[in-house]
Amino acid sequence: MNEILELAEKLVKQQNLTDRELYRLIEERDEETGKYLEEQAGKMRRLYYGNQIYIRGLIEFTNYCKNDCYYCGIRCSNRKAERYRLSREEILSCCKQGYELGFRTFVLQGGEDLWYDDERLCDIVRTIRNGFPDCAITLSCGERSRESYQALFDAGANRYLLRHETADEVHYRRLHPAGMSFSHRMACLRQLKEIGYQVGCGFMVGTPGQTIEHLVRELRFLQSFRPHMVGIGPFLPHRDTPFREEAGGTAELTLYMLSLIRLLLPKVLLPATTALGTAAGDGRERGILAGANVVMPNLSPVSVRKKYMLYDDKICTGEESAQCVGCLSRRIASVGCEIAVSRGDSLMQ
Ligand code: 5AD
Ligand code: FES
Repeated sequence: MNEILELAEKLVKQQNLTDRELYRLIEERDEETGKYLEEQAGKMRRLYYGNQIYIRGLIEFTNYCKNDCYYCGIRCSNRKAERYRLSREEILSCCKQGYELGFRTFVLQGGEDLWYDDERLCDIVRTIRNGFPDCAITLSCGERSRESYQALFDAGANRYLLRHETADEVHYRRLHPAGMSFSHRMACLRQLKEIGYQVGCGFMVGTPGQTIEHLVRELRFLQSFRPHMVGIGPFLPHRDTPFREEAGGTAELTLYMLSLIRLLLPKVLLPATTALGTAAGDGRERGILAGANVVMPNLSPVSVRKKYMLYDDKICTGEESAQCVGCLSRRIASVGCEIAVSRGDSLMQ
């Protein structure tokens, strides 16, 4: 009799467990339990989303960043990073290409770059909104003021991705320098929700100092915050950061966490991330099998892709957007799914 497998069965039946049980389910995980959770999470994904995988076109519009997160390759102290900013026209041309490839969601992701003040960023959002009225606009550019979030929302942005990175305040301080605060990040997430954005949060798996207790806390935080989307991926070291010598997170634990998240938040949008695809060649396919239902191919101009290096060996930095879409649709088909054509708004209330 496998006690851990029984815990997994209990989780599926009750859609919850105690902290102690979740701890054991992660700490004492074995292959059999992993397989079972994958099966059940896959079933749950199909129940709500069928075989449809949503695509979001990622436009990495700036790698300037005023922050200095210890894990991140575009931290301000990394003098080796070659900095770039995309103009409004360059961003629009990415959207246009993306639209022709079938994208109906654009994700504008960048470092915390004050050059994009409200005036500039709102102008970009407004222009995309007017040019692509049937598309969702997602922003992912870090912590800003409530007024800024509101102005961007009013300009036409619908969704915001802001990973909390860790749900533990002490652990947060291990990953970030003194100028950044856990409470401010959480305040931003709450504000985004209040304003009416569909909100994505998320964390890295296997960051330095992360314990199983932390992972349990992650699951509890997700249950209480109820984000529309949860982005998770393995931490992968970058050679020009203070964490260069640290071990990376594993695809295996990331996949296990994906399944747990799918089972605890059945309707949530769950991307199979680029970091997961970097940690394992078939990471994104396995992510889908483990319960993920979103992929975010890169629409950035090929000329800047290698400059948006958050971690070493990031995949898809040499491909044209169309190639990435072709490659991904084959990968998605290989696990019995297909790319959805709709905007894919969240089913979460
Ligand atoms: N490894 C994995 N993920 C990283 N991110 C940043 N640096 C790394 C890294 N070294 C993630 C963070 C951030 C997202 C855009 O990328 O979670 O929120
Ligand atoms: Fe980009 Fe495969 S998804 S090359």
